Amino acid sequence: MQGAIEKRGSIGVIWIDNPPVNAISFAVRIGLINAIQSASLDDSIDALVLACRGRTFMAGADISEFASGVKPPHLGDVVDKLAASPKIVVAALFGTTFGGGLEVALGCNYRIALASGKVGLPEVKLGIIPGAQGTQRLPRLTGAEFALKLITSGNPVSTAEALAAGAIDRVAEENIVEAAVEFAEELVLRKAPLRKSHELVIDSSKFDEVYFNTFRNSIARRTRGMDAPECCIQAVKAAVELPFLDGVNRERELSRSCIQNPQSKALQHVFFAERAATKVPLLKKDAELSPINRVGIIGAGTMGGGIAMNFANVGLPVTILELEQGALDKGLGVIRKNYEASAHKGRMSFEMVEQCMSLIGGTTNYGDLTESDLVIEAVFENLSVKQKVFSKLNSIVSNDAILATNTSYLDINEIASVVTNPGRVLGMHFFSPANVMRLLEIVRAEKTTPKVLATVLKLAKMIKKAGVVAGVCYGFIGNRMLSGYGREAHKLVLEGAKMEQVDRVLFNFGMPMGVIAMADMAGIDIGYRLREQMDESTYDIPSTYVADRLVEMGRCGQKSGGGFYDYSPGNRTPIPSAVSEKLVSEAAEKFGIQQREIYDDEIVERCFYSMCNIGFELLDEGMAFRSGDIDTVYINGYGFPAWRGGPMHWAENNVGLDRMLDSIRNFADKYGERWWKPSPLLERLVAEKASLRDIQNKLQP
Ligand code: NAI
Repeated sequence: MQGAIEKRGSIGVIWIDNPPVNAISFAVRIGLINAIQSASLDDSIDALVLACRGRTFMAGADISEFASGVKPPHLGDVVDKLAASPKIVVAALFGTTFGGGLEVALGCNYRIALASGKVGLPEVKLGIIPGAQGTQRLPRLTGAEFALKLITSGNPVSTAEALAAGAIDRVAEENIVEAAVEFAEELVLRKAPLRKSHELVIDSSKFDEVYFNTFRNSIARRTRGMDAPECCIQAVKAAVELPFLDGVNRERELSRSCIQNPQSKALQHVFFAERAATKVPLLKKDAELSPINRVGIIGAGTMGGGIAMNFANVGLPVTILELEQGALDKGLGVIRKNYEASAHKGRMSFEMVEQCMSLIGGTTNYGDLTESDLVIEAVFENLSVKQKVFSKLNSIVSNDAILATNTSYLDINEIASVVTNPGRVLGMHFFSPANVMRLLEIVRAEKTTPKVLATVLKLAKMIKKAGVVAGVCYGFIGNRMLSGYGREAHKLVLEGAKMEQVDRVLFNFGMPMGVIAMADMAGIDIGYRLREQMDESTYDIPSTYVADRLVEMGRCGQKSGGGFYDYSPGNRTPIPSAVSEKLVSEAAEKFGIQQREIYDDEIVERCFYSMCNIGFELLDEGMAFRSGDIDTVYINGYGFPAWRGGPMHWAENNVGLDRMLDSIRNFADKYGERWWKPSPLLERLVAEKASLRDIQNKLQP
């Protein structure tokens, strides 16, 4: 029973036991209210401890209740009841006291926490605000500064930080419940007051309009486009300026507006999509896994080094192989520099830098890879170079070691064909910088075995990546969609849009930067070299004309001081370039393209509808299992704004599938079917008035 009371002397311990994370379900809420009620009538109880069984204190609301609507009593009612208890209540925190769990604790009179625990209010990440008085009680305990940081970031803090801020009162190194009982006994003994967080007064003189504006500006870049962080600020401001009950009403209004805002639906979709992406229809839940104790990496370039860091960070030894000692030393030097930069920023200790570096070895000799359980190849993007590497690996490593390629575009089935046991080959497509970007596209080739796929999915989780399974096709999920997005951006430029206009519109949509500036950052020579290996009939020649001429002039992007844009030395801000503009005019004339005024709306529609149309193709072909997988790819690999839910969620919920199809058909009429043929899946969905969710199961092979 939730809320069972165990007596320990004169202290009543209220137990919650709702595995796995003690989510605050209907039964938990009822149990808590009843327990407080009966304890207040029990004369043998002097004070109470609120405790949880299992691995954590209450870690938040029960998300399974979201869909059907939460039944009363609400969490706020529970907090009210705790706050009105005539006997002292001590919350015994451990594990992850998040969201509603922390709000419950804030309603108690005192809080003791296990040193290893964390507390946080992650609601903002789901587009909402803490709605059970958390925004009103926390600032009263800690002041506005800590509360603003915790609530607007959604990131948890350690017990030590929470203690320093005043969010908790005491720390226990172990045996949290015993420590909480002792704390309660001590409070009773010294006749401590029933300290109620709602009665505390905030020194509002420090937190005036200027203070809030300064804070608002400090998070503006990180929260661009999102509505919930501003609501968090408003709620904390209400805590500073209003009496408690008025503040609670204000919190309720703000909470309601967030719940009704499409951004919260989008962010919740993102949360569930990322979890769903790890469940692959082809795999059994208890699929057999291979042990991975040692990782080999071929190539110590941009990607190889970053990939190595992921494994060293979680304690797995890595050996990187390069062709020559010089390249190896350079690659290892870059890794060290990256770690040291993190240490200088306070993200890790210098001791940890040495620890990680000691796990990364270098070699120029394939013989040093014989012990590897997984080898990831990250050499030049060239099929025959990669095939040679795989043949070599085939003769070196054990027959069941997993062989992965980091290729961006190449046919992994062809790479696998040179290996005697191709079932162990797959793609592990990391994104640059590989030690930072969360996405890992896991590309299953024709013969990849379920065991290999399951092992790499598990490994992705271990190295803290968002793993998404894709099938083998040109560019897999992310880069195949990028091809449409980038092509339309460049076509729009040839038709009369300025590069900076296109990039501004894409940035304002919520992308981290425009696609043209992004190409300059990544290096436009990458695409050039790729096209050299491609049949001209497979890509749009006019839209690549400017890029190709720029590369031939030595303008490869930021790294060469100029590309589509000019750059001042040491500065990454793009400056419109007369060289590019001249090439654009030249291309427009060469290909007979009439220049005209281009409106911002057309830029959004052509760039993103083209991206989404390819997304529907990927689903139709079974290259992506679910639309949510595509959204996970775009948010974690390309910076698509999470508050729009990813491109497919946006297509369905913001644009509307019928409207998108109409526009795509219009573009097909105007610009031809070659790049604008509507995806058959999109046509079917619209014809059948179906949603992406309706057809989900049918999409799974
Ligand atoms: P890079 O040119 O920075 O590094 C490649 C490294 O491989 C060089 O250090 C080179 O010396 C080494 N190498 C070449 N042939 C070798 C061989 N036979 N044996 C051992 N080492 C060899 O290239 P980058 O950017 O790291 O790309 C590597 C792979 O990752 C490519 O397939 C690329 O498509 C893919 N990729 C690149 C991304 C990026 O943003 N740079 C993003 C995702 C994937």
